[in-house]
Amino acid sequence: MKRVDDFRLKFGQKEYVPIVVGGMGVDISTAELALETARLGGIGHISDAMVNDVSDRRFDTSFVRDKTRLYRHNIFNADKSDVKFDLDILAEATRRHVGATMEAKKGDGLIFVNCMEKLTMNGPRETLQVRMNSALDAGIDGITLSAGLHLGSFGLIADHPRFRDAKLGIIVSSVRALQLFLRKNARLQRKPDFVVVEGPLAGGHLGFGLDWAQFDLATILAEVIKFVKDEQLNIPVIAAGGIFTGSDAVSFLESGSAGVQVATRFTVATECGLPADVKQDYYRANEDDIEVNTISPTGYPMRMLKSSPAIGDGIRPNCESYGYLLDGNGNCAYITSYNRELALHPDGKNIKVMDKTCLCTQMRNFKLWTCGHYTYRLKDTTRKNADGSYQLLSAEHIFNDYLHSVEHQIALPA
Ligand SMILES: Cc1cc2nc3c(=O)[nH]c(=O)nc-3n(C[C@H](O)[C@H](O)[C@H](O)COP(=O)(O)O)c2cc1C
Repeated sequence: MKRVDDFRLKFGQKEYVPIVVGGMGVDISTAELALETARLGGIGHISDAMVNDVSDRRFDTSFVRDKTRLYRHNIFNADKSDVKFDLDILAEATRRHVGATMEAKKGDGLIFVNCMEKLTMNGPRETLQVRMNSALDAGIDGITLSAGLHLGSFGLIADHPRFRDAKLGIIVSSVRALQLFLRKNARLQRKPDFVVVEGPLAGGHLGFGLDWAQFDLATILAEVIKFVKDEQLNIPVIAAGGIFTGSDAVSFLESGSAGVQVATRFTVATECGLPADVKQDYYRANEDDIEVNTISPTGYPMRMLKSSPAIGDGIRPNCESYGYLLDGNGNCAYITSYNRELALHPDGKNIKVMDKTCLCTQMRNFKLWTCGHYTYRLKDTTRKNADGSYQLLSAEHIFNDYLHSVEHQIALPA
């Protein structure tokens, strides 16, 4: 009987353990988690979501405070079009986050940065260009583009000296999305080095509508693998979404995936950035405590715990401090929803906004508990402490369980 450890993910001549720990913003997939994954020979991700804030927390910089001060005069103004990111600061924050992580890297694995293109930051093109170029400057091994692929994004870094040596990949949820991306980038003569196919059971934003349950990863993956083969593209295809046991992973590896990308199992790792009490909420969750809803202002459905404090919270939009979801004209769907409610409650008290959430603030404060479909099985991966809480796991333990488990067994911690 095969185990994940019987397979290897190949990039050119180099081989890696075929386990990719997916990016989880905002700083849920911490540098510590990515570093452990790389040390164990796999591929870890940090995320560049809200990187100015991540830098402030990691390195005691004051980028967010400075931006708030600069735009304080605009806080009660519904028009956020003037609230721009300083590109030099964005570059510095990215270089700090990526650079410090890469300096600490040990082992044979790789560290990539997850770059969500839906973070349009009131200047989609220029901010994405700075994010990607700065990550390459700071020595990142690779970039995984996700959430809202701008079809021309490789072109934004085509002049970087590392454009052809860094690993560049994309996350898609259909063969059509991959075809469009390839067509759009054909003139660069630069294929992606890997493609992650994310099915509907993943955490975070979904590349599906509310009819997500009608799709399944195995079918989409087979279509993508066939297309890659027929076109002789020779791109490793990585399966993601709902791969909960080593045996789940083996079945995808046997059917032609070059690797698997996993995340939910690692949300209860000590190295994961979620606060300890939130990890207990993930453990305690039952199947009907999890929903896919449309409160994310990105327009993509998102899976989360129904008990997330973010749901319904009507806080004032914090774009002067954050503003990562402002589109190129300074709009965000949450601002529209908030203003509608504010018009009904002009005193600004007891505002509830049910249809959208202030995603920046809520993710930054760990109040929006996005999770994969199988979060309700996490309790079966550990032991219960005498006080009723669940034991956290080391990333190494979870990684090794994926690597060696057979027959869907899950090794409990010592
Ligand atoms: C808590 C959490 C946060 C996530 N955040 C992101 C993100 O910021 N960007 C992204 O591309 N994917 C994100 N994802 C998706 C994962 O990277 C991964 O592809 C997917 O969840 C794998 O499925 P699994 O969680 O069932 O293992 C997130 C997943 C989780 C569980």
